[in-house]
This record gives sequence, C-alpha cells and structure tokens, in this order.
Amino acid sequence: MRIVILPSASDVAQFAADIVANQLEIKADSVLGLATGSTPVALYDELITRYQAEQLSFKEVVSFNLDEYIGISVTHNQSYRTFMNQHLFEFINIDIQNTHVPEANLPTKQALLNSAVRYEKSIAEAGGIDLQILGIGINGHIGFNEPSSSLASRTRVKTLSQSTIEANKRFFNEDEFQPYLALTMGIGTILDSRHLLLLATGENKASAVRAMIEGPLSAMVPASALQQHVNASIIIDQAAAAQLSLKKYYQWSERQRSMLAQTGLGSTNE
Ligand code: GLP
Repeated sequence: MRIVILPSASDVAQFAADIVANQLEIKADSVLGLATGSTPVALYDELITRYQAEQLSFKEVVSFNLDEYIGISVTHNQSYRTFMNQHLFEFINIDIQNTHVPEANLPTKQALLNSAVRYEKSIAEAGGIDLQILGIGINGHIGFNEPSSSLASRTRVKTLSQSTIEANKRFFNEDEFQPYLALTMGIGTILDSRHLLLLATGENKASAVRAMIEGPLSAMVPASALQQHVNASIIIDQAAAAQLSLKKYYQWSERQRSMLAQTGLGSTNE
C-alpha cells in the first residue's frame, strides 16, 4: 500500500485531486468510483475548481457510486444521488446519464436483488472501475460494508451498524425516518477496481486507519481488505495518522519514492 501522510485535510484534497487529474489525463473516458460522506467533499470542491479553470474535463467520464440508502426517495435531501448532484455533478461537465448510483428505492426484496445484479453488470460493461475513491467509517467500514462483511462480497443489501446509524444521525432531523439499510458495492466489487484511493482526515478516524493499515486482514475491519490490493493509495492527514506505529517509515518511504521518480527509476510502495 502507498501511505501518504500530509499536514492537513486540504492537502489531502489537493493530493487526491492530482491523482484524479492524472487518471483523466491518461484516460479521458475513465470509469471513476465515487464516494459520499464529508471526507471527499473537499476533493470534489477542488475538482470543480480545476474544471472551472479548464484544467479538467469530465465529458467522457463514467461514474459509479459506492452505495445508496434504502427507504428514502432519490430526491430526498439525504439520498446519495442528491449528495452527488449537489456536491459534484451539477458543477462539472459530466453527462448525468453516465453517472450511476445504486438504484435502491425499490419496493421488494427481489427488486433490490435484481438491482444489485444490474449494478455489477453495468460496472463490468463499462470495463470495470479505473479509480475508486473511498472514505472510511469510524468502525472501519468502506462503502456500507459493515464489520463482519464478507471480504469477497458483491453489491447487495446491508443492514447498517448502530455505530454508522449514530454517526450519520447528524444529517437527519430528529423526528425524521433514518435509513438503516443500504444497497452497497461489496468488498469484492471494490477490490476489482484497478486503483483504490482512500482518504481519511481527522482524529476520529485514527483508530480505524491504524486497524486498516497495521491490523490483521479481517472482516471485522472491512477497510483492511485494501491490504490485498496491489494498487491502493491511502492519503491521510496528520490527525488520522496519529496512531500509526510505522508513521516514520511511511514518510521516509514516500521521500524515497519521489527521489526515485526523479532519477527515472520509478518506485512502487505496494
Ligand atoms: C458513510 C459512507 C461511506 C463513508 C463513511 C464516512 O457511511 N457510506 O462511504 O466513507 O460514511 O463518512 P465521513 O467521510 O463523513 O466520515
């Protein structure tokens, strides 16, 4: 894994935006995997800024979001479709027809199962995900793959954990229905992406970040599955890196990487 520790959350957003920009430069019609949550908002703001400065174009990009709530309509102000429209899609030149968020507002179990199968099929038909952006839950989840999720799981319905419901309470009014189910890409689906880009900022993520990078590979920490991916970049700020025991090594390794890149030898930190 490539572990990049940066001074602040805004440095994380800049660094991640450089990775997205580089991906679009290599392949204008990239398939991007997108995430919701507060963490990627600064990245999306930076991508909008670069689009407005005509440094980036999303004209040919196809996107697939990680997950969507079950039980609220797509037009609900807390649906992940609304989130993506309001934080990114409305401000860039992506073709909205090319943006995919799991279809989860469906009445029956069978309809949800079919939707999950369709989602997997659409990703495959698009050629697979080139670059998947990820956040991490305080309990180590990725997408809505809660602790105990199969590391080989595919897109499916998941019951949210109490800790996730609690963490996301802030987005819903007190007397409002809060979803407790979601349709989410599985860990296996995520691992199929060619490059994983996980962002984490703030001290409340420090323990999950340590478990993801330095803990054992375990279904109890779904993000630890990144240890099995050959091209995973984990970009974190100092606060989120606070509990890492090999922090100095990761920083040293990154310095070597840039030195080797300058000499043309290249470097891999996987
Ligand atoms: C949600 C999303 C995840 C996200 C996580 C962390 O539950 N399903 O994809 O990574 O929360 O969110 P935040 O960045 O707000 O801490």
